[in-house]
Amino acid sequence: MGHEFLADPYPTYARLRAEGPVHRVRTTDGEEVWLVVGYEQARAVLTDPRFSKDWRNSTASLTAAEDMVNSSMLDSDPPRHTRLRKLVARAFTMRRIEGMRPRVQQIVDGLMDAMLASPDGRADLVKALAWPLPITVICELLGVPEQDRSAFRGWTDSFVSPEGPGEADKALAEMAGYLSALIEAKRGAPGGDLLSALVRTSDEDGSVLSPDELLSMAFVLLIAGHETTVNLISNGMQALLRNPEQLAALREDMTLLDGAVEEMLRYDGPVESATLRFPTEPVDLGGTVVPAGVSVMVVLADADRDPARFPDPHRFDIRRDARGHVAFGYGIHYCIGAPLARMEAKIAVRAVLERCPDLALDVAPEELTWFPNMMIRGTKTLPVRWTPAYAAGEPALTAVAQGTA
Ligand code: HEM
Repeated sequence: MGHEFLADPYPTYARLRAEGPVHRVRTTDGEEVWLVVGYEQARAVLTDPRFSKDWRNSTASLTAAEDMVNSSMLDSDPPRHTRLRKLVARAFTMRRIEGMRPRVQQIVDGLMDAMLASPDGRADLVKALAWPLPITVICELLGVPEQDRSAFRGWTDSFVSPEGPGEADKALAEMAGYLSALIEAKRGAPGGDLLSALVRTSDEDGSVLSPDELLSMAFVLLIAGHETTVNLISNGMQALLRNPEQLAALREDMTLLDGAVEEMLRYDGPVESATLRFPTEPVDLGGTVVPAGVSVMVVLADADRDPARFPDPHRFDIRRDARGHVAFGYGIHYCIGAPLARMEAKIAVRAVLERCPDLALDVAPEELTWFPNMMIRGTKTLPVRWTPAYAAGEPALTAVAQGTA
């Protein structure tokens, strides 16, 4: 995949959309997929029960590592999907998530303190804030010990930008091994966390949550709860920094923040394409028949830039009504973590704007490196700079007055 496509895939998708709603393409790793583009067609496929999420309906084969973690709700159709989703839905209600707000604020404050201590007023916003915030939150929720969290950076890097063939699989196997050991540890010494609660459910009633399903659940919550939120914060901040008039409008009126985060999701959401779906029978999409068992990828990024739904779609406009975007998916697999992701992003963006009044990109946008895949959209780093005296929260004049006293 060329750098140009990775940096800005939207024109390519728009060209495809002009030709029709579904296209058979080959990704760079040799996989053949059927891409679905356009807002209405995306929503139609995401709610059509003939498009299964269960790999047993796929003609593709899974690697041994993939096979270890393919029993999650995201790999299931009803009724298994309904049963699995219900088991964790309680942990993600609005009320539960609101209860986590003070802790999320505390984590953000700590990360911002550390970032602003940089004497030269420069940092990588991904490394300083966007990456550590969601991993800390989801690990605390699930009960992953702090000392184990650094390993996740390597594993998730290998998923989103593998450096060689087999690297993603190796990381998957390692992470599955780690999670199996963690589940064993929780069994011996349960805590008050979500994973301990799920282990208890599985032990007491294996018909509700089998060991395979338990491992897959832990895996999907960690991966889905983390990499996506990192890129919402970093793609969203990038959009603001590249559109100074929008940034200024938000700084002036922070009541625009909720709408700004929805627009960040619509304009450059972290999930470029939904996870694979497999037709259980041949399906006619706008005159093209998609055969049973093939891999179908719904391009959420294109749906959210479809001018038939969002006028002037390539304009980043925090005042537009971006509701109805499909950045969190649509239908029964709609993101269960959406309230948590929104809360984390709002607290993070607000903190950055309030504490860095003159924040700017510290790199030309063309120099940013985008992940080389079509599922997760984001850049490896987001270098930023600011004036250190401002950011420390101390008026610059105080320092001068002390110095001359
Ligand atoms: C900005 C952040 C996030 C984005 C953009 C996002 C996006 C998505 C999307 C597009 C789907 C549907 C995938 C499909 O249909 O193929 C999804 C599902 C899911 N997400 Fe998220 N997600 C985010 C954050 C989170 C968080 C924080 C969690 C958990 C803590 C989470 C957990 C899940 C789970 C478990 C599913 C599967 C739901 C099901 O199959 O019923 N996500 N997410």
